[in-house]
Parts: sequence; structure tokens; C-alpha cells
Amino acid sequence: MGNCWRKPAKCAHASSNKFSERANSRSKSKLDSASAPHDKGPTSANPEISPVISEAISSASINLKSFSFSDLKNATKNFRSESLIGEGGFGFVFKGWIDESTLVPTKPGSGIVVAIKKLKPESFQGHKEWLAEVNYLGQLHHENLVKLIGYCSEADNRLLVYEFMPKGSLENHLFRKGVQPMVWSARMNIAIGVARGLSFLHSLAANVIFRDLKASNILLDSDFTAKLSDFGLARDGPSGDETHVSTRVVGTRGYAAPEYVATGHLTPKSDVYSFGVVLLELLTGRRAMEDERGGFVDETLVEWAKPFLNDTRRVLRIMDLRLGGQYFKKEAQGAAALALQCLHTDPKNRPHMTEVLSTLEKLQTTKQPSRQPA
Ligand SMILES: Nc1ncnc2c1ncn2[C@@H]1O[C@H](COP(=O)(O)OP(=O)(O)OP(=O)(O)O)[C@@H](O)[C@H]1O
Ligand SMILES: [Mg+2]
Repeated sequence: MGNCWRKPAKCAHASSNKFSERANSRSKSKLDSASAPHDKGPTSANPEISPVISEAISSASINLKSFSFSDLKNATKNFRSESLIGEGGFGFVFKGWIDESTLVPTKPGSGIVVAIKKLKPESFQGHKEWLAEVNYLGQLHHENLVKLIGYCSEADNRLLVYEFMPKGSLENHLFRKGVQPMVWSARMNIAIGVARGLSFLHSLAANVIFRDLKASNILLDSDFTAKLSDFGLARDGPSGDETHVSTRVVGTRGYAAPEYVATGHLTPKSDVYSFGVVLLELLTGRRAMEDERGGFVDETLVEWAKPFLNDTRRVLRIMDLRLGGQYFKKEAQGAAALALQCLHTDPKNRPHMTEVLSTLEKLQTTKQPSRQPA
């Protein structure tokens, strides 16, 4: 994968149309090496999670609603363009309305709003990811994971129905032009929410690894609570004496841990690295991989920021100018030092997510009242 690193267009999802089809440049930042024989997908041996059958929806997903395709057509007014709220590698995301108790489609404005993700029918890899999403989110419930309400699997149609997240993705808030800059406290609360979500996954007996942590997969509730979305690439982590799981390399350039990209060896510490990248994005307001015009650059955010991170004075030079200096200096320095630990090249030297979480919580409670002048 080494040469793929700087040639995104050439190695976008080799085994899938999912990402190479997308029109925007972000789609080309997806990683996918040729399939490795060891990539078993979700096969949990976790007593807290029922075993997941790789080719079918697990019984633990029984608490999810199985929607008919016509239900979801009605809920989105035939997937009309006004209902469109986003597009990703998997497909389009629409806003829909359903009744809160019966879950049947309702008129726009009545019932509850949901987000309906519709797999592009031509997506080869999509069915596997759709299944992983149903199987993981059908079983895992936590305040920092997005709630999956149901799914639809009818003929070739594959859809997912989620709780609607009114503030959209972190990516939109941090990087979209014309959006009000996020204040410091919101950024730190988001970092804590994401750390809680990942700590929860890593603490399960199956050591669930999220594998695709990035700003677009962090969705925000009305009060900016962060929730992880997109479990299509998630998988069970090492168990017993295993130090890692071997898998094909998937994820997103700029966020994926270097040792995983180089070897396909996956551990929960791969998520810790990606968390470090997201933390850097929150601090600097810069994308993991792109320049301001949305083009690819040779230098990643990590390469650019690393030299500043362990110097308490210099680190303030990389802070997002849109914060207008309105942040707590000590908290920013602590968060930058934490990002540096998460980004350690040797995964063994990265902290566990539970340590990351407690460091962030401590930073919030011990912050100094004085603010950095603008
Ligand atoms: N539950 C939801 N509530 C509100 N908006 C959502 C929801 N799910 C997705 N979206 C919106 O749809 C966009 C596309 O999401 P999607 O997960 O399909 O793609 P992505 O995360 O941008 O890219 P990728 O396919 O590489 O993960 C998100 O960025 C977000 O703005
Ligand atoms: Mg996503």
C-alpha cells in the first residue's frame, strides 16, 4: 500500500465500486487492498454479542424493524431530491418521516424524522458493509453510537434507517464553507463523546474495532453530542493470545494507522491513531488529507502538525484561527500532547481509549480560567 498513499485515485476500493464511483475527491481517499484470506468480517465470540453469521442478519438484530421498500419510498416521498441530505461511498442519505410507535411512514412534519441510507445498487462491496452495519448496530447500544432503527432488504435494494442527527456530521461543521465556526467547548465535548464511543467498543469482549473513524462518520445530535456512525468496516478485534487480526486494508487515507496500512495487522490501537487524527482536526480546523480547495496534498495533517505538538508554545501556532483565540491554553496544550501520543508510530506506545477518555475528562475539569488572547 505504500505507493498508494500518495496516489489516491489509483487505489480507491479496488474490490468495490463503492468509493471510486463518487464524484467528489474525498471518495478517492478510501483504502482497500486486495482481499486477504484472513479477513473474516464480524464473527464475534463475545458473550455480550451473539455470534454474527457473516452472510445473514443475526438473530440479535430482531429488535430492528424490517421495512418494506415501499414503506421507505413513502417515507421519503419516493426518494425525491428535496429529501436528500448527504452522499457517501455507500450511497445517498435521505430524510424521511415515520410514526414514532408504529414506525409506518407518515406525512412530512408528523411523527419522527429519520435518516434513510440507500445503497447504490451497483456497489459490489456494499452488501457486506450493509450486513456488518445491521449486525453490529442491531446489537450495540450506547449514547455515543448512532441508533439504527431498521433496515430494508428487498430484491436488490439495501437500505438502513437511522435516528436523524439534526446537526449532521462533524466534517460539515469543521470544514464546510459558510458554516459557523465550532466553539472550543463543543470541540472538546465532541472529542470526549467519540472517546466514550470507542472506549465502549474496545471494552467489549469482542474488542470491536471501528476501523473507519473520521470526521464524516461522527454525527452530531441537537446538543452536539457526538455519535459514531458507519459500522460497515467494523470488525471484531484480536481475542485470546492473538496480538492482532489480519485483514485487507480498508479505511480512509490520512486517518488509517501506518502499521495497518503497511501490514494489514489491525488492533484497537488503529482506532486510537485515527482518534489522534480527528483530535488534530478539532484543534487545527484542517482536514486529515486535503488542502483548503479540496485537492489532495502530499503532506498529511499528521506530518504537518507533528513537529509542533510537543512544544507547549509552538503548538498554539497550529490552532484553528476560526476559534479567534477563544480557547483554554492548558486544555489545548494537553489535547495536543494527547494527540501526539495517539499518533505514535509504534501502536504499543499509544494509550488505550479508556486512558484517552480519562485524560480528556481531566483536562476539562482542570482547565485554567484564562483564555488565549485572540
Ligand atoms: N443519521 C443521520 N442523520 C443525519 N445526517 C446523516 C445521517 N447519516 C448520514 N448523514 C449525512 O449524510 C452524509 C453522508 O453519510 P455517509 O455515511 O453515507 O457517507 P460519508 O460518511 O460522508 O462517507 P463514507 O461513505 O466514506 O463513510 C453524512 O456526512 C451526513 O451529513
Ligand atoms: Mg459515513
